[in-house]
Amino acid sequence: MSDEAVESLLLENRTFPPSAEFVARATVTDDALDVAAAADPEAFWADRARELVDWFEPFDTVCEWDLPNARWFVGGKLNVSYNCLDRHVAAGHGDQVAYYWEGEPGDARAITYAQLLDEVAQLANALKGLGVQKGDRVNIYLGMVPELPMALLACARIGAAHSVVFGGFSADSLRDRINDAGAKVLITGDGAWRRGGVVPLKEIADEAVAECPSIEQVLVLRRTGNEVAMTAGRDVWWHDVVPNQSTDCPPEPMDAEDLLFLLYSSGTTGKPKGIMHTTGGYLTQVAYTHRLVFDLQPDDVYFCTADVGWITGHSYIVYGPLANRTTSVIYEGAPDFPDKTRTWAVIEKYRATILYTAPTAIRSYMKWGDEHLEGHDLSSLRLLGSVGEPINPEAWIWYWEKVGGGRCPIVDTWWQTETGAIMIAPIPGRTVLKPGSATFPLPGVGAGLVDNAGVTLGVPASGNLVLTQPWPSMLRGIWGEPQRYFDTYWSRFAGRYFAGDGCKVDADGYFWLLGRVDDIMLIAGHNISTAEVEHALVGHPAVAEAAVVGRSDPTSGQAIAAFVILRSGVEPSDSLVAELRDHVGATIGPIAKPKSILFTEDLPKTRSGKIMRRLLKDVSEDGSLGDTTTLADPGVVESIKARYLAQAGSDDE
Ligand code: PRX
Repeated sequence: MSDEAVESLLLENRTFPPSAEFVARATVTDDALDVAAAADPEAFWADRARELVDWFEPFDTVCEWDLPNARWFVGGKLNVSYNCLDRHVAAGHGDQVAYYWEGEPGDARAITYAQLLDEVAQLANALKGLGVQKGDRVNIYLGMVPELPMALLACARIGAAHSVVFGGFSADSLRDRINDAGAKVLITGDGAWRRGGVVPLKEIADEAVAECPSIEQVLVLRRTGNEVAMTAGRDVWWHDVVPNQSTDCPPEPMDAEDLLFLLYSSGTTGKPKGIMHTTGGYLTQVAYTHRLVFDLQPDDVYFCTADVGWITGHSYIVYGPLANRTTSVIYEGAPDFPDKTRTWAVIEKYRATILYTAPTAIRSYMKWGDEHLEGHDLSSLRLLGSVGEPINPEAWIWYWEKVGGGRCPIVDTWWQTETGAIMIAPIPGRTVLKPGSATFPLPGVGAGLVDNAGVTLGVPASGNLVLTQPWPSMLRGIWGEPQRYFDTYWSRFAGRYFAGDGCKVDADGYFWLLGRVDDIMLIAGHNISTAEVEHALVGHPAVAEAAVVGRSDPTSGQAIAAFVILRSGVEPSDSLVAELRDHVGATIGPIAKPKSILFTEDLPKTRSGKIMRRLLKDVSEDGSLGDTTTLADPGVVESIKARYLAQAGSDDE
């Protein structure tokens, strides 16, 4: 084994118990929740629902489960916006800041709970004036401005379901999502700031809405001040119709199972899936997990770097934090604008105590260099979170040392758009951490491994991750496609929800997520996960980031093609290719050596930061590039493809 491979293994085997100082203040340090959940899961969730949520009418049945259809807290009536706003103001907390918002150009706002309630009520009244009624769908296409959470809450207040489309999506993607949802109103803006430039939201929305027969009105927020065309009779300015509304808008009592929102998630077939989330169960579980996993304290200043256009933003910028009366920080723009210190400057400015971000961001920060953090006081931080993909132990340790100063527990949170809330994660006041492991299912969550035949595996083992019992914030279906809902999640392993992720559980019961099982390669009949090889590559000191795909090969079935971003200052060379191949061979075994390695400056990623393996696969096969509208920078693929073709053969054996 190479020195680096040994180092990587040693990192994984290091354990990090919570410090005495952290435990002394932590909200949960024992296993009472697990004991209660194991004894009676329904009673456990009913307790959480009563403890965390204010109900207009109590529920009479905790859960009706008729696979694959769940109904939670049946008979209960509540309003999500009431739970996020009114009850806190009524309890005397109207002056507490709900959001510190930092605009990309440097402007800033502090919005209290009382102000947020007033603005949400005005917007809700304006939406009613535009014809929105209970049961309608409203599409939202905005940048990270305070009006974005307000728009979600205003819909929830009047019982309309929102469908947020991330502000980086193209006109075609927006059009398809609006048409699938059948939305009546679109809320958008003139533009969104991104790296000092303007993303022309209204122009893109106009192109989309031209082919959206269901849209009756478009509400337009002024943010960037660029010139936009307004269509008479259809488009109205936010500043013309919202501020003059009454701040009195009684929250609509909603059934626990009424639709709260749709959020589209990409599917393997190409057509996005409209994931459905409902009211009572969703709110209960996001509030519970936000409080438990982030060890929420009354004086916390919580900073989640996700975009509200993704599930992380819905659950852990808007609904969970507001239900728990958290003070949060929202940053509008890019982390490298005006320079690569921005994230750290924001933390220092607002004295953030919790940072929740993604491994892809952490690896970017690593690549940019430690000097960007060094000038900043990060001593306010007490807890760090990670979400979205497996975090490699090297990035974990960097996060621990450089950002957390060796004192902040890291909660690696596994969940999905479909699960609505965090499912597998540490409880920071009691869980002994292992770098790279999401640790254990949370109390109330049933998770386990099965083999490809659906046989439950003992521990330790490696297999398919399944969820073994319904949970309150689970998706209720795919909008308009009940059969697809059953086929995608409930048909592969009878009686269990198939998450689509590979997972290893070690002898101590720790869960190690291995990436999507559809990213498993078959090399000469051996199962090798793309994540495993990537993990090995990023364990080499020269590598900042790596993506691996299986391409077809006449002898071995598939061969491994690797795309590698080097750390700054490292020069690409043939000898480095050989060294990296040997390194992977030494870490996993000779069978896992990439057949080709291409050095690149960037990787094609979705707007949420996930590597688009399908595109890399196409590049490595020299096939068609497919639809690139969800790419962060479509040009990246072209440049990778050109270089791949130029190198093809030269690094093949
Ligand atoms: O593969 C898992 C990965 O992200 C997938 C869900 O993606 P999405 O619906 O976009 O939601 C992302 C935000 C929750 C999962 O099937 N994933 C998410 N979190 C982790 C993860 N993989 C490993 N570790 C995680 N902490």
